Amino acid sequence: MRRVYMDANATTPLLPEVMEAMRPYWMERFGNASSIHLHGQQAHTAVDRARETLAEFFNCHAAEVVFNSGGTEGDNTAIFGLLHPGDHFITTSIEHSAILRAADRMAQHGVETTFVAPQASGLIDPADILRAIRPETRLISVMLANNETGVLQPVEEIGKIAADTGVFFHIDAVQGAGKVEFDVRRFGCHLLSISAHKMHGPKGIGAMFMRRGTPIEPLLVGGSHERRQRAGTENVPGIVGLAKAVELAIHSLEDGTIGRLAALRDRLEAGILEISGTGINGAWDGDQPVPRVANTTNIWFDHLEGEALVIALDLKGVAVSGGSACHSGATEPSHVLMAMGLDKNRARASLRFSLLKTATEADVDYVLKVVPEAVGHLRTISPVAAGTLG
Ligand SMILES: Cc1ncc(COP(=O)(O)O)c(C=O)c1O
Repeated sequence: MRRVYMDANATTPLLPEVMEAMRPYWMERFGNASSIHLHGQQAHTAVDRARETLAEFFNCHAAEVVFNSGGTEGDNTAIFGLLHPGDHFITTSIEHSAILRAADRMAQHGVETTFVAPQASGLIDPADILRAIRPETRLISVMLANNETGVLQPVEEIGKIAADTGVFFHIDAVQGAGKVEFDVRRFGCHLLSISAHKMHGPKGIGAMFMRRGTPIEPLLVGGSHERRQRAGTENVPGIVGLAKAVELAIHSLEDGTIGRLAALRDRLEAGILEISGTGINGAWDGDQPVPRVANTTNIWFDHLEGEALVIALDLKGVAVSGGSACHSGATEPSHVLMAMGLDKNRARASLRFSLLKTATEADVDYVLKVVPEAVGHLRTISPVAAGTLG
């Protein structure tokens, strides 16, 4: 059976060049980057080179790059590292759980959080961020691209607000990295988090931009790695893999790959929208298109259960995601779609299609053959279609 993976926002496979770049650092170049002998120096040089690549990607100084274990650690570091009892924190209700749960924990430590809701389009209005600022606000955290809808947030405008009001600004850029032009100076952020496995790099490795002078209390203490910002022996193969993935991402931003991906996504979307009772979540703000990353579309299908459609598509070889999360056996609709004002049934009946940058026309053809068949079949047997499910 043909297999088409359209769940790139969950994770991506390594590109062969990434695997090749990492290979020596598992074996013959296995040194500890802190050792002073040859093995250590080889590892140290590789980490330094990777840091230069990341600095170019972020548009910052090499000393402002901190390697860590990925997006969750970056998000947690921004919150736990900057906020103190009595501080006020502003974020949005559509963030990843790495932000939302960290904010919940800080509530137990005397930090109050304002969760700014998006508009129906999925966009955060910077004016709502400005309105939420208080004298004790210390940090704003807003994602660059939403993982479920792909909607790109106006981070530059929010960066200006942060600068004008003297508040620190963190961007969770996990889903934007490699998909849009990056520049931490233009974004006006103090902190920014990325993760390798969302951009064809390895899992368990990521990096943060930390603007010089940002008073972050490290999450992990121990050795003096990463300028004392993140203790722990460096994951050298991971760091090398991340840097190679970033290098390839920079190339993809310049060589037309992203435009090709957007065209594929648009064809996929248009094809699926030919099915009756479907629509896009996060595509329009009135009659204006909403800025989105090129690889993502989030589509609702009336009269069926999203989870049933995910399973039906998997049986046909197509991997996609529903936005819902399973909590103690009950399927909760996506917090992102609910925050955008969808009703529960529509939120439950929404699927995310997120294309790999290696996606092909044939992949889209196959998905466009399989989805209408699966939807048609489910609607004939679904209790939702029959109106017996609330
Ligand atoms: C927006 C966003 N932030 C953070 C994370 C967490 O990243 P990681 O898997 O590297 O911990 C994810 C992963 O799904 C994400 O989509």
